[in-house]
Amino acid sequence: MALPDGFLDELRNRLSLADVVGRKVVWDQRKSNRAKGDWWAPCPFHGERTASFHVLDRQGYYYCFGCHAKGDAISFVRETENVGFMEAVEILATEAGMTMPARDPDAARREEAKRGLSDVVEAAFRHYATLLNGAAAKDARGYLARRGLGEEAVRRFGLGFAPDARRGVIDALGKKGISEAEAIAAGLAAKPDGPGDAYDRFRDRIVFPIRDARGRAVSLAGRAMSNGAKAKYLNGPDTVLFDKGAILWNEANARDRARDGGPVVLAEGYMDVIALDLAGIATVAPMGTAVTEGQLRRLWRLADEPVVALDGDRAGLRAAERIVDLALPLLEAGRSLRFALMPDGKDPDDLIREKGPEAAKEALEGAIPLVEMLWRRETARPLDTPERRAAADKALREAIRRIPDPGLRRHYADAIQERRTAAFGSREAKARSGGFAPRGQGGGRGFGRGFRDAPRPVIPGPGRASALARGGEAEVEIREGLVLGVLLLHPGLLDAVEDRIEAHDFGPLWSRLASAVLQHAASPDLCAESIPGGALEALRARPHLREHPAIRAPGDAALALATLREEIGKLEAARVLAAEVAEAAEALEGLPGEGTDWRLGRAARAHDEARRAAAEDDTVYETAPNGVPLSRTEREAWAELERLLPGGARDGGE
Ligand code: UTP
Ligand code: MN
Repeated sequence: MALPDGFLDELRNRLSLADVVGRKVVWDQRKSNRAKGDWWAPCPFHGERTASFHVLDRQGYYYCFGCHAKGDAISFVRETENVGFMEAVEILATEAGMTMPARDPDAARREEAKRGLSDVVEAAFRHYATLLNGAAAKDARGYLARRGLGEEAVRRFGLGFAPDARRGVIDALGKKGISEAEAIAAGLAAKPDGPGDAYDRFRDRIVFPIRDARGRAVSLAGRAMSNGAKAKYLNGPDTVLFDKGAILWNEANARDRARDGGPVVLAEGYMDVIALDLAGIATVAPMGTAVTEGQLRRLWRLADEPVVALDGDRAGLRAAERIVDLALPLLEAGRSLRFALMPDGKDPDDLIREKGPEAAKEALEGAIPLVEMLWRRETARPLDTPERRAAADKALREAIRRIPDPGLRRHYADAIQERRTAAFGSREAKARSGGFAPRGQGGGRGFGRGFRDAPRPVIPGPGRASALARGGEAEVEIREGLVLGVLLLHPGLLDAVEDRIEAHDFGPLWSRLASAVLQHAASPDLCAESIPGGALEALRARPHLREHPAIRAPGDAALALATLREEIGKLEAARVLAAEVAEAAEALEGLPGEGTDWRLGRAARAHDEARRAAAEDDTVYETAPNGVPLSRTEREAWAELERLLPGGARDGGE
């Protein structure tokens, strides 16, 4: 139906948005400024105590700083009353004293039909509720009592009883002038595929009314009382009124409860909702079908971080994992889920019945964030082969990639990375000391001191790879200098390590010195003129270098060779680590690359082991004027190296 020009403008002009909204919220009087038409209230769309819902009355707009709900009077009525556009306009027009133009006869008929159908369902609710009080419902009442559902539950949820009758509800509604066709359209009755009369859909079952967010009757579900029934629960079929995937059971009640603060829970079953709700916890559930995107969105209107209460069994876990996948592309800053696993394979209803509401509350308080759920899901299987680790890694990357918000995505990547680090870190610490012995104690403080006291290799999150590279640069430079210094003292050893030296990519500080040293492999004598002067100065400027035993005792060829092998080994490990870090960071950024952080962990371990193999001695150090620890006995050792280094005299000492 087309509205006449200017109708909506007129409507908006006549209405005050603050009036419309004011019926659903309690204004924060301190924060609001009546004179300016500036109003604040706790948001009616999501549970909160603070007032982040802002109404600009003059402009006719609202915006929630918490859940980002926004719109005008029409959208407000649509959302809060769960009605279509035209229906919202009609509600507001009535309020504003405006006459709605004649309606599109088809749409009007459809609306009318819906309203009529809802009345049919409502009549059925009354019918079933009445029967629950009757003589035929003795067993049903006994069943409810056994399950701990008393008067309050029956009243609050409108529970009823459908006896084992073929045409019970059909006939009862017929007496009120409701046709069999209407009963079928409302999902209350069904017609056999073959010939034969229509029959009641719900027989010998406890009846659970299903209402939409406004409280309008849309369908029902039935719980079999005997364990032998074909289906434990029977849900009404989808009808023009009832779209299973769009409705959360108990939403209207949950919205009320959510206003008082406290968690909002998504449970699996009707009984769980009832038990949690009666314990004062805002709870909703889907209706026998997998949770849909629409249901998640509705849930996020009730709370920023609803808690998914999982049945503590495999099925519950599987359902939760599906919800993780569903939620990832919908996540936003400040909008997530948590997951609470009920203990001992129980569902919330079992738990509350056996251990009381406190036990359920405790389980809910222990809810884990979505990122933890994701991590556990992907690392639950044994990760004992490279292929499995790579597969888990890939799954995590792909999951993170599905988060649309880049900032949030990055936080997820960081959080996952932290978990990996924690996993490796604890394993490493155990392997090393079997406990929590503080690092850097007990050992000597030899050449390796600077390295040993440095933090253990940390596997950084994405974006921090370069920071690690920077942090490791000084260390790498010293090792490279040491290798070259030893080679200068023992040119004969070059043969033994030439390939590895050749393969190593020396940093800018040493690259020219390195190529000069390598040149020596081809020519019998190291050519003094080929050594760049700056490189030699740099070599000499490193106390760590000049104090090293292999440099200090230039006659000890065995020590020299051991040092060479050790230092080259460490350089190689560091290089592998740096490459893996870069690759893993890239992979987690969603860029191409299949680097895995388990590989990263292995590289880090190798690096660490190579480090720890560093010779320890008991040399007592004193501090040089520049703050560097110096060995008293080795203080003058550099002079010796200087003499041995080609060009040493020319470059001069310190
Ligand atoms: P459960 O099998 O976990 O049952 O089904 P429950 O909620 O614990 O129920 P009780 O305690 O045995 O009475 C969870 C939900 O799955 C749907 C229902 O919505 C149920 O609440 N379901 C289950 C069906 O739709 N059909 C079924 O046959 C079983
Ligand atoms: Mn149960």
